[in-house]
Amino acid sequence: MTKLALIVAATEDLGIGMSGNLPWHIPKDMAFFKKVTTHVPKALEQPNIQNVVIMGRVTWESIPPKFRPLDNRFNIVVSRNSDYKLFPESTPQQNAVLKNSFESALEAVDPTKHGRVFVIGGAQMYSLAIGREECSHIVLTRVKSNVVCDTFFPKIDNEKFRLASHQELEDYVEQHVAQGIQKSKELEYEFTLYIKK
Ligand SMILES: NC(=O)c1ccc[n+]([C@@H]2O[C@H](COP(=O)([O-])OP(=O)(O)OC[C@H]3O[C@@H](n4cnc5c(N)ncnc54)[C@H](OP(=O)(O)O)[C@@H]3O)[C@@H](O)[C@H]2O)c1
Repeated sequence: MTKLALIVAATEDLGIGMSGNLPWHIPKDMAFFKKVTTHVPKALEQPNIQNVVIMGRVTWESIPPKFRPLDNRFNIVVSRNSDYKLFPESTPQQNAVLKNSFESALEAVDPTKHGRVFVIGGAQMYSLAIGREECSHIVLTRVKSNVVCDTFFPKIDNEKFRLASHQELEDYVEQHVAQGIQKSKELEYEFTLYIKK
C-alpha cells in the first residue's frame, strides 16, 4: 500500500483558500512546500525516482502557468472532465497527467518510479484523501493569524492523528525546519506534523 501525505497551510479554523487562491503569501512556507514535496527520502533514493503531487483541477489552475507542472515532481491532476486540457495543444509532453477520480490518481502511482505521494489540495482532494487508510501524515503549516477564507481543510480527527514533535517533523522531512512561531510580515505561522496513530 503506497502511503499518502497531505501537505497544507491552514489557519486555526482550518481555512486554506479564498476565491480560488491562497489567502496569504508566505515565501518561506512556499520554499518549505517545494523542498518537502521534492525531496525523495533516503530510503527510497534511486536514480530517476520522483515524488508525486496529486491535486484537484482548481488547485492546478491556481498555479501560474509558468510554474506548471510543479518541477521535479510527477503531477497528477484530478477532474471529472476527462477532456480537460492541462496544457495548450502544442505543448510538448510534460511531467503531468489528468485522472478522473482519486482512485485512478492513486493507480497512476508507480512504486518503481515514484517516491512519496503528496496530496497538495485543495479542500475537495484533502477530503477524499484524509479518511483513507493510506493517509499516514499531514504536514500542516499552522497560520496563527486571522485570515478570511472561503475554503477549508477537513477536521483532523484526534482519535486517528496525533500532533508529532518537532524532531519527528524534521526526521520525516529529512531536513532542518525552523521551530516555533515564525513571522512573515504581519502573519504568524508554525510548521507542524500530524502522524496517523
Ligand atoms: N492552503 C493550502 O495549503 C492550499 C493548498 C491547495 C489549495 N488551496 C486552495 O484551495 C482552493 C481550491 O480547493 P477546492 O476544494 O475548491 O478545489 P480542488 O480540490 O483543488 O479541485 C476541485 C476539483 O477537483 C475535481 N474533483 C473533485 N472531486 C472529484 C472526484 N471525486 N472525482 C473527480 N474529480 C474530482 C473537480 O474538478 P472538475 O470541476 O474539473 O471536475 C473539482 O472541481 C483554492 O483556494 C486553493 O488556493 C490551499
